[in-house]
Amino acid sequence: MSFTLDAGRFTAKSPRRNVFVFVETGSTTQKYGRMTPEAEALDERLNGAISYSLRGSRFSGAMGEMHKVTFPDARGLSAISQVVLVGVGKLSSLERRDFWHLGMRLAKQADALGLKDASICLGAPEVKPGLTEAALALVEGMHMALYRFETFKSEMKPHQLARFEELTVLTNDRTARELLAGWPGTLALLEATDSARNAANLPPNTANPQFMAAEAEKLSKHGIKVTVLDEKQLTKLGMNLMMAVGGNAAEADQPRLVIMEYNGAGKDAPKTAIVGKGIMFDTGGYNIKIQGSMAGMKFDMCGAAAVLGTMQALAARKPRVNVVGVMACAMNMIGSVPFLPDSVYKSYKGLFVEIGNTDAEGRLVLADAMAYTIEKYAPAQLVDLATLTGACMAALGGSYAGLFTNTQALGNALRKAGDDMGERLWPLPVDDVYAAKPKVADVNNDGAPYGGASTGAVFLKKFAGTTPWAHLDIAGVGNKDKTPGTPEHLPSGATGFGVRLLTRWLETQQEEVADASAKASKKRGRGRPRKAA
Ligand code: BES
Ligand code: ZN
Ligand code: ZN
Repeated sequence: MSFTLDAGRFTAKSPRRNVFVFVETGSTTQKYGRMTPEAEALDERLNGAISYSLRGSRFSGAMGEMHKVTFPDARGLSAISQVVLVGVGKLSSLERRDFWHLGMRLAKQADALGLKDASICLGAPEVKPGLTEAALALVEGMHMALYRFETFKSEMKPHQLARFEELTVLTNDRTARELLAGWPGTLALLEATDSARNAANLPPNTANPQFMAAEAEKLSKHGIKVTVLDEKQLTKLGMNLMMAVGGNAAEADQPRLVIMEYNGAGKDAPKTAIVGKGIMFDTGGYNIKIQGSMAGMKFDMCGAAAVLGTMQALAARKPRVNVVGVMACAMNMIGSVPFLPDSVYKSYKGLFVEIGNTDAEGRLVLADAMAYTIEKYAPAQLVDLATLTGACMAALGGSYAGLFTNTQALGNALRKAGDDMGERLWPLPVDDVYAAKPKVADVNNDGAPYGGASTGAVFLKKFAGTTPWAHLDIAGVGNKDKTPGTPEHLPSGATGFGVRLLTRWLETQQEEVADASAKASKKRGRGRPRKAA
């Protein structure tokens, strides 16, 4: 999707034919909503037509409300043909993620009105995230709501072809400047989110492990080092869990471990690992999924897709961090490999794993991928993302992903990033009381009728060892089709959950490292004269 952004000073830049403007909830004297300064200015420009229309309406300025004022004789009066008043409640109480949601609502409205372009007035300087961040979040929301997966639509109706594509943000000079400066980076992040959504939306007979490897290879011309381990190498290395899960697929669909390295900080700077579950389709294996549970299992690679998107975003945005992104890609099929309940496999880490359930395959591929990543790359911290359990989906719906960690500070930082970006996390326990009991081996991959999300997490924890680790169970948030709670105005299919959260989190670390070293050098600076005295 193409989407152009322009910005300028409210008074200098002439608005487009369609203008969105925010209105807050009214005070007792003004029941019809409190106009923001820019709404007032617009009203003045239109000879009081907005306030006149408002007085005759029930519009109160509450979040979620909209009120449209049209000017049929627009050409005579001004260039404006319609003004859409958007209720926001109280602007100063909105967080960054609220602007993201607002953006999605605006896009939905623009689409419903059949608009091609619009202006949005954004003036109030007192917004919490700052005006530029608020505007960027808004545009992110618009872009994300306007995405469509149309690869397999051979015939498009005219109204499907005409899309909203140009936005002008009318604001103050400084914000306009900052917004235009920040836009290329934001666009790169949005394109990376779309890559994740595209990969996840593709059907399983198109998007196999080899497809994920090929998508990763595309990043190599943008400075990402890509290594792909095929079935022969995986077997040789002893990644028997990866091979047990993926070995039943056809030759062309055999498993791949895809490793992407981004080095934005010095060679000696610590690495962060992000590892994604990439089950390109999950039939359940011999513990086959029942009728109704199998459809949609093409989305079982949303974790890997998020890792792919994040690496793409890093390659474009170039933050000063070192990241290794790993995708554990396999198809969970039925075939002649004896991947059966009661089978026992030696994992890459060396632990013997007995199979309690072939449908709990995500934790198996992740176990090998995590152990390998830790041994080979010695990351300072590791985050895995996985559509791991129906139990997490039952617990949290589509509103939050489950967060499990062995390191509180890591969990907190991830939550903060998620809160900012509208990809929220809620902590759940990782406690051995939830562990599945093995009968003949060291561990068992089975789930549990209750607390199953934690059972999955406890299994993974064994393979994280002493590395600070967090596990995000994104089963409920990865796609929109089954769970209520995912953002209302995102299109159906994959949400791209994780790309924006991880990118934000990784980039905050770059700031933190810079802060820490600035503090350290300041301290050294202060220390010297004292020594001399
Ligand atoms: N891919 C599923 C989890 C899932 C379910 C994701 C629904 C998205 C929507 C996973 O591999 C799985 O089948 N988990 C089982 C675990 C059980 C067999 C221990 C589950 O959650 O039922
Ligand atoms: Zn499964
Ligand atoms: Zn699965």
